[in-house]
Amino acid sequence: MSQQLSVQHLLGIKELNKEDIELIFNTADNFKDVINRPIKKVPSLRDITVANIFFENSTRTRLSFELAEKRLSADVVNFSASGSSVSKGETLIDTVNNILAMKVDMVVMRHPKPGAAVFLAKHIKANVVNAGDGTHEHPTQALLDAFSIREKLGTVEGKKIVIVGDILHSRVALSNIFCLKKLGAEVMVCGPATLIPRYIGEIGVKVEHNLIKALEWCDVANMLRIQLERQDIKYFPSLREYSMMYGLNKEILDNLPKEIVVMHPGPINRGVEITSDVADSKQSIILDQVENGVAIRMAVLYLLAQTRGF
Ligand code: CP
Repeated sequence: MSQQLSVQHLLGIKELNKEDIELIFNTADNFKDVINRPIKKVPSLRDITVANIFFENSTRTRLSFELAEKRLSADVVNFSASGSSVSKGETLIDTVNNILAMKVDMVVMRHPKPGAAVFLAKHIKANVVNAGDGTHEHPTQALLDAFSIREKLGTVEGKKIVIVGDILHSRVALSNIFCLKKLGAEVMVCGPATLIPRYIGEIGVKVEHNLIKALEWCDVANMLRIQLERQDIKYFPSLREYSMMYGLNKEILDNLPKEIVVMHPGPINRGVEITSDVADSKQSIILDQVENGVAIRMAVLYLLAQTRGF
């Protein structure tokens, strides 16, 4: 297997091949051992400076990248759009080039506009990692999700994964679909017709509007948050109605013919897409996903740094 990624930036899962994903997973296996040791740090990115620039809110991704960078001994700077000169009219490129002038080697960016990371990678001399760009992609989330399935079930290949909820507005759904299919999983989406994009069949994904049927089919259910902040019109009558049709509760889970794995990328709206007793049940791997996020992001940063011969 190649020991180097085929890309210099992580802009989306679409640009990765299966070997890249397997290399990231194998590298993350080693880093997971590292972060479970009493001394959690390795010198792999010593003398590398990483800027985390976030134009949109984040808890998990931001903290996870910062921890990953610190565990790799990188120097880290953090930038938030709120409180910055963006409010004075500075463009994205000017903002980032000013950060790079301070000798930054890698940029991790979250941005509300789809394509922002691709745009940035074309215009700056640093490795770019997309930490979520609007409704487009969230590649490290998909990698940590697939890594968590592999850890729980031994493999992703041949497994049946259903992604439930707001597929239309979800960068997590799109990146998951690309990643899971590259790894040989069968993928289904489930939700109201208004929240399923029309192109979904063209990318080899099954569609099911009945939650119980979808859950009876799957090995793993990835329950997504309804992204009200991205919805310009009403896609369903009310959250209560959505929850009645597509919310996963313990009664549904316990009545399924087999034990399935429950995932959620966070942040959870408890009582909407998933009830608390499901989120906290033994079938839920939600906190494993968060833990694995650090190892996956360490692997991505380490492997991208190799492509530039640092
Ligand atoms: N899963 C995820 O991206 O969470 P945050 O928005 O908190 O980073």
